[in-house]
Amino acid sequence: MKRSSFLIASLVAGIVAYSAGAAASSESVETGEKLYNSTCVACHGANGKGKLPGVPDFTKSDGRLSKDNEVLVTHIMEGFKSPGSSMAMPAKGGISSLTKEQAGAIVQYMRQAFSGK
Ligand code: HEC
Repeated sequence: MKRSSFLIASLVAGIVAYSAGAAASSESVETGEKLYNSTCVACHGANGKGKLPGVPDFTKSDGRLSKDNEVLVTHIMEGFKSPGSSMAMPAKGGISSLTKEQAGAIVQYMRQAFSGK
């Protein structure tokens, strides 16, 4: 009796932990989308193709989104300028309070929204 209620309790705890994890990951893409649309969109555009000269097209399959998450997060946080580029990516993209986790969420959103389109 004792043993089976322990089993049920751990099963319930497992399900709760699992659904919390799933909710957290979908929320982070949503957070990424909101943040992207707050400032990044001004230069990168709602379709990710870039609205100004010198802004890269994120939808190209061999483009910027083919870099690793870690590299992209670092370039968002610290800013980035390719050799010979006419315009630089500003550090944190204009969101002064941006955290690495939020930058990661934006990268996740960009991959979902722009990759292969
Ligand atoms: C003032 C315009 C501007 C804003 C605002 C801006 N970007 Fe950029 N971004 C650029 C430009 C220009 C580049 C290309 C720089 C280069 O390669 O020299 C770039 C490049 C990037 C790259 C590719 C970096 C790489 O490694 O190739 C990512 C990812 C990126 N931006 C994400 C963001 C995110 C996320 C935001 C919002 C938090 C944002 N950008 C806001 C102009 C902007």
